[in-house]
Amino acid sequence: MKSFAGKIFVVTGAGSGIGRALARKLATDGARLALADINEANLNETIREVSSKSPKVKGYKLDVSDRAAVYAFADQVAADFGGVDVVINNAGVALSETVEDMSYDDFEWLMNINFWGVVYGTKAFLPHLRKSGEAYIVNISSIFGLISLPTQAAYNAAKFAVRGFTEALRLELKGSTVTPICVHPGGIKTNIARNARFYKGMDGSDTHEDASAHFEKLAHTSPEGAANTILKGIKSNNRRVLIGPDAKVVDVMQRLLPNAYDKLLDVFLKQKLF
Ligand SMILES: NC(=O)c1ccc[n+]([C@@H]2O[C@H](COP(=O)([O-])OP(=O)(O)OC[C@H]3O[C@@H](n4cnc5c(N)ncnc54)[C@H](O)[C@@H]3O)[C@@H](O)[C@H]2O)c1
Repeated sequence: MKSFAGKIFVVTGAGSGIGRALARKLATDGARLALADINEANLNETIREVSSKSPKVKGYKLDVSDRAAVYAFADQVAADFGGVDVVINNAGVALSETVEDMSYDDFEWLMNINFWGVVYGTKAFLPHLRKSGEAYIVNISSIFGLISLPTQAAYNAAKFAVRGFTEALRLELKGSTVTPICVHPGGIKTNIARNARFYKGMDGSDTHEDASAHFEKLAHTSPEGAANTILKGIKSNNRRVLIGPDAKVVDVMQRLLPNAYDKLLDVFLKQKLF
């Protein structure tokens, strides 16, 4: 996609972090924006910021884990904007707990948003995207869709699943006008750790505050940097987008040392490098 001017973009999770940064950048690029979030106050703040820059912005209060609501949202966006060119399934949450102690309630909460939310967003928009001359489905996985860490089993399961789902879809849609892109951000300085359901920290931190502060110290990339990399990925038709130096290192590490990367991660965790 050479230019975003006039194109119709859908961004979920647009009330904060990467989603808000995407909305800001897309607005200045002249894209038309359908922005969704479960948090209406934060969504309205994003809309307030971007509406004078974009030719058209509309906000939708949406819970991406509600299948019927996502299908209704897709139809509503297509009706409001007259089509859809790009869907960025970005909304997500975090959960920090061991497999042994994790409740099914928490596990399902995370899977319903981070995995099923992406599936609903993909399937509900696909018929609309097929009508566009050039369309993209951008699904946000993570470096935790490449490697696994203690207390991140639910998040890992969801993000590995998003990767598998998106890569299979890519093969299915080969030769069509719709391109799926899987995005693997490294640490991005957003509210995700502070908003997490937190029980135990992967680096041994006991408190949510310690773990959030540690995350913020290690997160190398700004939300704006992440948004720029994602949008560059769409412009260059990249099927797979890695964000940040940490994502690049992790990607190589898990491919070179599939049976031993956990030992390296152990060292990194002990030295508080992860
Ligand atoms: N921040 C990172 O380091 C990082 C790394 C890798 C991947 N990611 C992924 O990037 C995406 C964006 O996260 P972020 O870091 O900007 O976090 P964030 O917490 O700043 O923003 C997430 C947004 O999603 C919204 N949201 C949560 N549940 C929702 C639901 N059920 N329906 C609709 N909206 C919902 C929140 O209200 C929030 O506005 C997520 O999928 C996350 O897993 C983030």
